[in-house]
Amino acid sequence: MRMRQHNRHRRRRLYKNEIKRLHLFRHLLHKKMNNDIYIYIHIPYCYKKCPYCAFVSFEKQFSTLDLYINKLIKEIKSFKTAKTVKSIYFGGGTPSTLNPKHIESIINAVYLNFSIDKNPEITFEANPISLKEQYLKSLNSIGINRLSIGIQSFLNKKLKTLGRLHDSSLGENAILKAKEIGFENISLDLIYGLYESKSEIEYELKKVCLLDIQHVSTYMLSVEKGTEFEKRLKNGSLRVSNDDEMADMYLFISEYLTSNGFEHYEISNFAKYGFESRHNCSYWLGYDYRGFGVSASSFIDGIRFSNTDSLKDYLSGKTVVFKEKLSKEDRIKEAFVLMLRTNKGVNIKEFDKMFYTDIKKLYGNTLQKFIDANLIIEKNGNLFLNGAKSMIISNAIFSELI
Ligand SMILES: C[S@@+](CC[C@H](N)C(=O)[O-])C[C@H]1O[C@@H](n2cnc3c(N)ncnc32)[C@H](O)[C@@H]1O
Ligand code: SF4
Repeated sequence: MRMRQHNRHRRRRLYKNEIKRLHLFRHLLHKKMNNDIYIYIHIPYCYKKCPYCAFVSFEKQFSTLDLYINKLIKEIKSFKTAKTVKSIYFGGGTPSTLNPKHIESIINAVYLNFSIDKNPEITFEANPISLKEQYLKSLNSIGINRLSIGIQSFLNKKLKTLGRLHDSSLGENAILKAKEIGFENISLDLIYGLYESKSEIEYELKKVCLLDIQHVSTYMLSVEKGTEFEKRLKNGSLRVSNDDEMADMYLFISEYLTSNGFEHYEISNFAKYGFESRHNCSYWLGYDYRGFGVSASSFIDGIRFSNTDSLKDYLSGKTVVFKEKLSKEDRIKEAFVLMLRTNKGVNIKEFDKMFYTDIKKLYGNTLQKFIDANLIIEKNGNLFLNGAKSMIISNAIFSELI
């Protein structure tokens, strides 16, 4: 009798300890996620609007630049948080339309207003035509430690169709100069889908490898509503690759880059070991981020909000125009799909603990169907897309999981 009582107490104690451990684990996970924040700064100015671009970016508006920086700094100062800033990302538009004084004043505002990680990743998107020696030196001394260069292509014919302001040799020289000045973390943006031949794509990828770059973002051309490209496609003056050709190119790019030292770590992104974009990973891992500037969006503690797309409104002091609190189920599904974008995928146990859920039960047959079809792999307690062949049809998979 005594023995049975003793065992019962022992089991209860073990159970209590287990619960305590579980709570501690959840607490630590949440603490980790909730203590960090990633900052995005949108610079909407461009030298010239590209004919394919539907981003919130404007040409011939430089007279408003000083006022924009004022408003941006005001918005930064008005946001209070105890979270630690892990990364700062200048995106656009074209951040390299800013002069070094502008950049410095924005970074100073961030440093004065928030607590910053010891070694934050500071990314700056740049147009090759801005990357002159003196400008690169200034970026370096201001503390920019990651450059994302809008190369788009190494083929003059393609750069011309894309309406870019640089040619292939200017682009290549900008990269070489950046390396010479001391940038050791460089990412290139490449676009494909303009009816290129395989050997043309191969030529571009070979350049990337020879230039010894750390990170590549590859974008499948999308002909957006309201763009010059849409008009040209309709009137027959633009030829783009069809879906099958796009898929072939996607697989070819993945194969080429992964055989040359890159990891295909996210649907459109490739990195050498240790050079994944920390900032972009925050979006895919469902971490908190705060965007400043026109059209910037944010996600903090389960609340999503976005700033106005209108430059005029932003300059007159308007910021947030849209705010929503995601339901628990939406948050879980969104986080799941975002994590599936990366090659690490989702650890089922951790995910379930983090969101107090049972993800396999939540999706039931919808998820099992993809596992059975070998499109999503379940291995050692992890779920992930089955390589480039699944990544290429990820939109179709995600549309059923969201
Ligand atoms: C917001 S842009 C910022 C970079 C910079 N403004 C530039 O263009 O060099 C990020 C990237 O999106 C890609 N992009 C823009 N419009 C696109 C489209 N319609 N289809 C595919 N990729 C696109 C380009 O490769 C571009 O570098
Ligand atoms: S693609 Fe980049 S440079 Fe071209 S208009 Fe869009 S944001 Fe500006």
